[in-house]
Amino acid sequence: MKDYEKLLLANKAWASEMRELNPNFFNNLAKAQTPKFLWIGCSDSRVPANQITGTDPGEIFVHRNVANMVVHTDLNMLSVLQYAVEVLKVEHIMVVGHYGCGGVKASLEHTHLGLINKWLRNIKEVYRIHKSEIDLDDDLDNRADRLVEFNIKEQVDNLMKTSIIQRAWQNHQRPMLHGWVYGMDKGEIKELVRLDYTHPIEDVFRFTFDAEL
Ligand code: CO
Repeated sequence: MKDYEKLLLANKAWASEMRELNPNFFNNLAKAQTPKFLWIGCSDSRVPANQITGTDPGEIFVHRNVANMVVHTDLNMLSVLQYAVEVLKVEHIMVVGHYGCGGVKASLEHTHLGLINKWLRNIKEVYRIHKSEIDLDDDLDNRADRLVEFNIKEQVDNLMKTSIIQRAWQNHQRPMLHGWVYGMDKGEIKELVRLDYTHPIEDVFRFTFDAEL
């Protein structure tokens, strides 16, 4: 049996098990999704949103990219964010990074990697801000893990800089923003930062909105 055929077989087994546990599970899900959470995570195969949080299909709206970035010109991320906030009305958004992140580690190095240089450039900008603190440690892996943490906080700040979040905070006092880091050694998530609508927005990035919008 080919590797990909195992996936299809496993899917059949999973689907029938789910139907056995709850005959209406897929019928209910097919009608609508009402997730409370938007997860912005790393594409790394070892950090699957549902599995590590013990959640089922339908519970988390997910966007993943290399190194869990919130880049203000990324139409893909922004479309997911707008839909999650304005249509699904999610209550929480979590930016979830992880120690041992290859994308973050590559951003500390100088190797030319082709197209992905342009994506990693966004992480290098975070490194630049915190360089003196990160470079205190000589060990590359330790420095990468420090940057993982700084990067998560920076991406939570980037969410706050979007008009989508600022307008939702003004009009609906949601969503709450979370920065989480996942440790692959124990499989546990640690909270780094949590912000809600009362958090002041840096003046440079603050928008004003018409009252009716
Ligand atoms: Co990663």
